Amino acid sequence: MADAPTSYQFIRTRHEAAVGIVQLYRPEVLNALSAAVIDELVAALQAFDADGAIRCIVLTGTDRAFAAGADIKEMAEASTVDMLQRDNLARWERIRGIKKPIIAAVSGFALGGGNELAMSCDLIIASETAVFGQPEINIGVMPGAGGTQRLTRAIGKARAMEMILTGRQMTAREAERAGLVTRVVPPEVYLTEAIRIAQEIAAKAPLAVQLAKAAVNKAYELPLREGLEAERNAFYTLFSSADQKEGMRAFVEKRKATYQGR
Ligand code: CAA
Repeated sequence: MADAPTSYQFIRTRHEAAVGIVQLYRPEVLNALSAAVIDELVAALQAFDADGAIRCIVLTGTDRAFAAGADIKEMAEASTVDMLQRDNLARWERIRGIKKPIIAAVSGFALGGGNELAMSCDLIIASETAVFGQPEINIGVMPGAGGTQRLTRAIGKARAMEMILTGRQMTAREAERAGLVTRVVPPEVYLTEAIRIAQEIAAKAPLAVQLAKAAVNKAYELPLREGLEAERNAFYTLFSSADQKEGMRAFVEKRKATYQGR
């Protein structure tokens, strides 16, 4: 493992083979996402991203809450100037820079910043107990960490407007039907299922995984023509990797490929 800080206060990290696991752990406040939590989370994700032995990351919380949002107590009395000077939400942007896939394993509350954090991940595996929502409207504000943008892209304007303007929460099954969630599984297995999928991804050619993640994310940001061009360039780029040769030769030779990330 790379020299990841090991003395986190609000998160726990471990790994299972090539899968790095980050657990938000501030259970007494349902994993409320203070600036310090996000700083630790970003540090842990960056450490896994830089660690050659890790190929996929799982981000989880506790059974009761993935995260119940940004820390309300931390910002309740802040002025606009305080918020601008702290610019806590700029910290969240760093999660977007992680190149390896991140799977959110969600149980219980994924509200406000918690839902926004789950949506910053690449896949969401949800327990049947999970609830997703953007309740900021109930406390006099609105989503600030991507909710109006990512939720609208994920589930469409009609449903996103209802959730954001009324604060209505979605069950895991609803979220799955709406396209917010990859898969819903029984509560006992949400984390093991996320780790299983992460291990499946970890066995693929790492450069192909990394470029594929980046290309899918471009679908959110680029017009179709530019997105298609970026995809084609990434596809051609992979032909200078040893893993492309290995993958295609292994297919032709009817054997299992072994990837090195080169
Ligand atoms: N920030 C700070 N503390 C929080 C919190 C949050 N987002 N969510 C829960 N807590 C704390 C509670 O204050 C409580 O602490 P105390 O025991 O010290 O009172 C503890 O966690 C347990 O919570 P509850 O007693 O409220 O538990 P419950 O089961 O009755 O209710 C809940 C659970 C429905 C999730 C409720 O806690 C709740 O509504 N939380 C706030 C959800 C919310 O509004 N999130 C949006 C935050 S703003 C945001 O995220 C902005 C953004 O876009 C970045």
